[in-house]
Amino acid sequence: MSKKIIIAIDGPAGSGKSTAAKNLARKLNFTYLDTGAMYRAITYCALQRGIADDYDAVVEMTRNLDLKLRFENGVTRVFVNGEEITDKIRTAEVNSKVSEISAIPGVREEMVKLQRAIGKDCNLIAEGRDIATVVFPDADVKIYLTASLDERARRRFKEYQEGSVNISFDDVKANLAKRDEIDSGRDVAPLKKAEDALEIDNTGLTPDDDLELLIKKIEAALEKK
Ligand code: DC
Repeated sequence: MSKKIIIAIDGPAGSGKSTAAKNLARKLNFTYLDTGAMYRAITYCALQRGIADDYDAVVEMTRNLDLKLRFENGVTRVFVNGEEITDKIRTAEVNSKVSEISAIPGVREEMVKLQRAIGKDCNLIAEGRDIATVVFPDADVKIYLTASLDERARRRFKEYQEGSVNISFDDVKANLAKRDEIDSGRDVAPLKKAEDALEIDNTGLTPDDDLELLIKKIEAALEKK
């Protein structure tokens, strides 16, 4: 069997990782892995069960959950113990708790195991916060995607408006800043650029321009290998 290719994309919330990774996966015919959806699923389940503040119980729950992702028609469908929770993991409640839950070491341990198992025998584009630094340190291409806080907040605010979610721009911006702080400041697998990752700041770029730039960079990186 030929060696499988792994492309790792990390970056803060709202940097356009998901859009870029989805488009790239379609274009290159790779499997797409949204690791944020996994941490969101754990957070949703912990909230549902009323155990989100009991970290030992959250780890115990995580070890016993049957979590599955299916990427279909541009959407990552998420299932827990056979129940679909795709729409339930992107609420303001999950947003405000997910950074805390994803900082629990035992939760990360389980998620990383699952992510590596998914990447074992397919060409993969995985996106998250620690993909190039922890999950796949030997990834063939490593990208750190970022944009200014204002730009990221504008993108998230637009998504909320399109989904008829009633939230102010200032609250969206404050929530993003808070998540950046927790995601980058935690002890285990903090969000940071891997030393050998290519940093791309897409402030002011349209998703199409961003995709074009990423494809050029990825092709150039793969050619060098
Ligand atoms: O990419 P996202 O916004 O859906 O991610 C939700 C949260 O999950 C994010 O605030 C931090 C966490 N996360 C993480 O800790 N590690 C990852 N690889 C992906 C996401």
